[in-house]
Amino acid sequence: MENKTVYLNGHYLPLSDAKISVLDRGFLFGDGIYEVIPAYNGRLFRLHEHLLRLKNSLSHIRLANPHSAGQWAEILQPLLTQDPEQYIYLQITRGVAPKRDHAFPEHTQPTVFAMCSPITPFAGRNAGIKAVTLDDNRWGLCNIKAITLLANILLRQSAVDQGAAEAILHKDGYVTEGAASNVFAVIDGILTTPPNGADILPGITRDVILELASANHIPTRETVISLEALQMASEIWLASSTREIIPVVQLDAQLVADGKPGPVWKKIHQLFQAFKQNQT
Ligand code: PDD
Repeated sequence: MENKTVYLNGHYLPLSDAKISVLDRGFLFGDGIYEVIPAYNGRLFRLHEHLLRLKNSLSHIRLANPHSAGQWAEILQPLLTQDPEQYIYLQITRGVAPKRDHAFPEHTQPTVFAMCSPITPFAGRNAGIKAVTLDDNRWGLCNIKAITLLANILLRQSAVDQGAAEAILHKDGYVTEGAASNVFAVIDGILTTPPNGADILPGITRDVILELASANHIPTRETVISLEALQMASEIWLASSTREIIPVVQLDAQLVADGKPGPVWKKIHQLFQAFKQNQT
């Protein structure tokens, strides 16, 4: 195993030396939250927005933010390597409690862990991928970036078992998001994505896409997408920090339009590449 330097509770140390107690509530309960922050050419991408979402996730689980935005930047920056494209994984749990009890323990220190990994360009990005539609059987607080990801894992694995790269989830007949991505569809020429709320994670890539589209006169709409509307869409994309913007060319057994990445995706993909290189 690669022995890179990671951050754990105030210290930088080799990965093999980073140890936490089996009584950590992240391990026992999945009681924690996380962030995935990409960095291009040594600069953390949309750090302010990621830290804002981190703050919101922490406040939803009633855990105090252990650091200010400035302190987070100072903690994370030294983990970056020479890789042109990499991402920070940052996790905060409620910490170690002397006994296993569901209710919050008193006087525990949160466990803070961060590491950096290279981003390898996602294989299906240019040719497009297959996605399958699955019932969204997750909980009612999907806006929290919780480490408790068992439902997402089972959904993604079910997609992989069917030869697909992602599951597109739906609840009561409407699209929510992917197992680990947000969903966009071009419907009647309008770039459409489900609205933020408790059913989806407020994706940072999602926001960048909406901003780039507006700035480049691509009409957008944040509104519900029925499963039928998705099936009729001329383009479908998935968006996330590690895979960027991925065209879906097959949905279940059916091709999306002509089965090739569409013109709106090509435009946004180009804009996104330029934007991430030029970020200040
Ligand atoms: N996941 N929705 C879900 C459920 C996700 O897990 C993710 C990202 C997104 C996209 O958010 P963003 O654009 O901020 O990455 C939406 C990360 C990459 C992960 O769990 O590894």
